[in-house]
Amino acid sequence: MVSLDRAALRIESRLLHGPIASRVEGALVLPIFRSTVFESGPPESELRYARRSNLPNQLSVAAQIADLEGAEQGLVAASGMAAVSAVLLALLRSGDHLLVQEGVYGGTRLWLRERAAALGWSVDSFDGTEPDTWAAKRRPNTRVVWVESLTNPLLRVADHEAVVRFARAHGLVSVIDNTFASPINFRPLVLGYDLAVHSATKYLNGHHDVVAGAIAGGAPLLAQIRDVLSQLGGCLDPQACYLLQRGLHTLALRVERQNANALALARALEAHPQVRFVGYPGLASHPEHGRAARLFGGGGGVLVFAPAGGVDAVERLVDRVQLAAEGPSLGGVRTTLARPARTSHAGLSRAELAAAGIPPDLVRIAVGIEAAEDLIADFTRALEPDP
Ligand SMILES: Cc1ncc(COP(=O)(O)O)c(C=O)c1O
Repeated sequence: MVSLDRAALRIESRLLHGPIASRVEGALVLPIFRSTVFESGPPESELRYARRSNLPNQLSVAAQIADLEGAEQGLVAASGMAAVSAVLLALLRSGDHLLVQEGVYGGTRLWLRERAAALGWSVDSFDGTEPDTWAAKRRPNTRVVWVESLTNPLLRVADHEAVVRFARAHGLVSVIDNTFASPINFRPLVLGYDLAVHSATKYLNGHHDVVAGAIAGGAPLLAQIRDVLSQLGGCLDPQACYLLQRGLHTLALRVERQNANALALARALEAHPQVRFVGYPGLASHPEHGRAARLFGGGGGVLVFAPAGGVDAVERLVDRVQLAAEGPSLGGVRTTLARPARTSHAGLSRAELAAAGIPPDLVRIAVGIEAAEDLIADFTRALEPDP
């Protein structure tokens, strides 16, 4: 039989024909290997043990994510935060300095705020859209620059090409949390980032039923991160690996639909008389629309908006909307909404929220794969003023 030339396939096909094919009894789907340990082979072969993340389901899904990101190697973790923790702990030593983009995920910010000092790390934040300000923030001990493909909740797009140039010029390890864009819309390692991190709980799995993380990058860095992840005990269970891999089969289809739905809903909201503000990288009104159009395959599945009637109008909207459950996650097949001032940014005072550009009446919508017409009708109805 002629073997499959995967390199010639597009991403949609590679998602179904993964780099590690199932060889078990001709099964098209890799079965779940529940065994936590495998019989040791010759002395030189590595011990196969679940916590070392080297069992069949772990290796297969990790290789698929590496392939998606165009990386040499991949690794899956027990959650997005397990992946974030393992990467930070593998890259930084006491005395090191880290540059973190403003507007990164609240859990990452909190982690650094509460743990960095005890580990001997210093942290500074920077505006990802203002490259001219970065040099002044760098110190001789800066080791890592950490950004996200799109910030939360305002969906700002850093000057990613400049981040890569800056990191290379100064010998920094560049890390990007690519959760919001997903590798369907953006492949940061191809652009030159060193490591991509994911909350695979979101788009990669996409069905609201798995908590997982993923990391993709070059082999030497991944070897260090794998050791730390093993020491933290942050491996992903084989059952979760199986579900994550099943979710990956439809990643391209889902993200394409979510891109289209989010754009259609953003346009409808922007045209709605009861709406004061809409933020979506696919809209011409977005400050980095041009960059997003150039770098990304789509604007993504998340948009933010603020109704004209302030927090009372948000309250009414949340009561009335039927297709969007209120919940702080994103990236699944069902539409969800969140109020950032109450969830990801709940710890900030009114003044801090204002400084971060996050109004108290901001609503974040993470669109699912429902019909765009139904989502538009639902939100339009929910925004109508009381008769
Ligand atoms: C951008 C981003 N990174 C990391 C995480 C953490 O992922 P998890 O909840 O899977 O630990 C999240 C979760 O919302 C996220 O949005």
